Amino acid sequence: MAKDPGRVLIFDTTLRDGEQSPGASLNLEEKLAIAQQLARLGVDIIEAGFPFASQGDFKAVQRIAEQVGGVDGPIICGLARASSADIKACAEAISPAPCKRIHTFIATSDIHLEHKLRKTRGDVLKIVPEMVHYAKSLCDDVEFSCEDAARSEPEFLYQVIESAIKAGAGTINIPDTVGYTTPAEFGELILGINKNVPNIDEAILSVHGHNDLGLAVANFLEAVKNGARQLECTINGIGERAGNAALEELVMALHVRRRYFNPYFGKKSESPTPLTAIRTEEITKTSRLVSNLTGMIVQPNKAIVGANAFAHESGIHQDGVLKNRLTYEIVDAKTVGLSDNRISLGKLSGRSAVRARLEDLGYDLTREDLNDAFARFKDLADRKREITDRDLEAIVSEQAMQPDSRFQLHLVQVSCGNALKPTATVTITDQDGCEKTAVALGTGPVDAVCKALRDLTCEPNDLIEFSVKSVTEGIDALGEVTIRLRRDGKIFSGHSADTDVVVAAAQAYINALNRLVSSVKNSSIHPQDDVVEAKI
Ligand code: KIV
Ligand code: ZN
Repeated sequence: MAKDPGRVLIFDTTLRDGEQSPGASLNLEEKLAIAQQLARLGVDIIEAGFPFASQGDFKAVQRIAEQVGGVDGPIICGLARASSADIKACAEAISPAPCKRIHTFIATSDIHLEHKLRKTRGDVLKIVPEMVHYAKSLCDDVEFSCEDAARSEPEFLYQVIESAIKAGAGTINIPDTVGYTTPAEFGELILGINKNVPNIDEAILSVHGHNDLGLAVANFLEAVKNGARQLECTINGIGERAGNAALEELVMALHVRRRYFNPYFGKKSESPTPLTAIRTEEITKTSRLVSNLTGMIVQPNKAIVGANAFAHESGIHQDGVLKNRLTYEIVDAKTVGLSDNRISLGKLSGRSAVRARLEDLGYDLTREDLNDAFARFKDLADRKREITDRDLEAIVSEQAMQPDSRFQLHLVQVSCGNALKPTATVTITDQDGCEKTAVALGTGPVDAVCKALRDLTCEPNDLIEFSVKSVTEGIDALGEVTIRLRRDGKIFSGHSADTDVVVAAAQAYINALNRLVSSVKNSSIHPQDDVVEAKI
């Protein structure tokens, strides 16, 4: 690919770096659903996972490579540390995709070299060409990242980059791994690389950045002005710690401020050609799918995809917008796929209407899952007059995507009130298919339910978050519950919705617990752990 494709390539890492968010782990079906939606959104590259991490990660990348990447579809990419075993596993996992990429990396900052890798700069200069060359022998498209580049010495970075390009890397990625840099500094770093790496014209310059200081998007935009042409980002900005640069914010900044950015691409200010290939109308749908499946709630005031992003509360603003939208709005809500017409289905809607609506929302369900979803839809339609898209998303997201659920909830019954001690009776089937019932007292009905479930499941954990919100307005609205459990420093989230919030809480607890159990059984490696060996 040419060094400057005339626009920015969007490299989505929701399924890799995004999945590294505490509590955001996804199962295979969920990853596939997100990858399919990312393809609809029009991202150029999907980083589908870290295949060496575990069997589960390997299989997920392989399935995505089989089912999502087409000849004209996104490139399917896997992450690999600069080690032959990682690279080999990655090449195997992505092999079914017509367009594929190996993304390999090693740290370049002195602090990482000394304390994490215990290697010298000389070691790195030896490993990089060896491993890039090995990756290139297995896959034509190789990306190389200098981990912690923003804290690396620029002169050393130039040498590493030059050797990676010589060995065959077509994309060079510059990560701000710890979210430390500022826009002017990052822009200067990118400019320095462009000026001082003799063979830089043979590669696309990419950036990857974390949001520890809330600067990731601003840093990326400065990088674009200085020649970066690939942006590594995630939906809703999820990712390690404070997350990654948010895809929707980057894309909409380049869309809304195209006139400002055009000259940096050598175009006339007024050029109408989009600066990314993203179908912006798919943004809201993608954001909701990722939020529902990861259980990572989007803050209401989040730019572009937050619930309040297009809400005008003050009278003065409302008046202004009614007179002329442009007085207080820089993005038309329709551009990101937020339609005013939120009422979609009702009691009389049939199975095919429900299926079509779900497909439109990014849920491509198996026959069995669709049957389940339709039964839940009918049940809800008996209790609620209008079923909105948000309701539909809520009823399928936690139920239809859990084929490997271990504990199953059968009965929840509570008695509570101002003159009663809250008491819960709960029945589940456990991992061996045995039915069990427990009764527990609590400070409130939800506490009592969680205590009964803890007694029944015997899986030690701390409940660290319980949140409930209404999916839509109205007294008959679904209550959406998110529960986060912690065990051995790892966080597992569960999510559920029901018109009865106590039932939703019980199901959310079970969903979180199923993720916990599945993670204990399939332990995986973190990509930023040290590599054991680095020889072919
Ligand atoms: O933050 C980082 O440096 C990364 C690399 C593995 C690209 O995620
Ligand atoms: Zn990262």
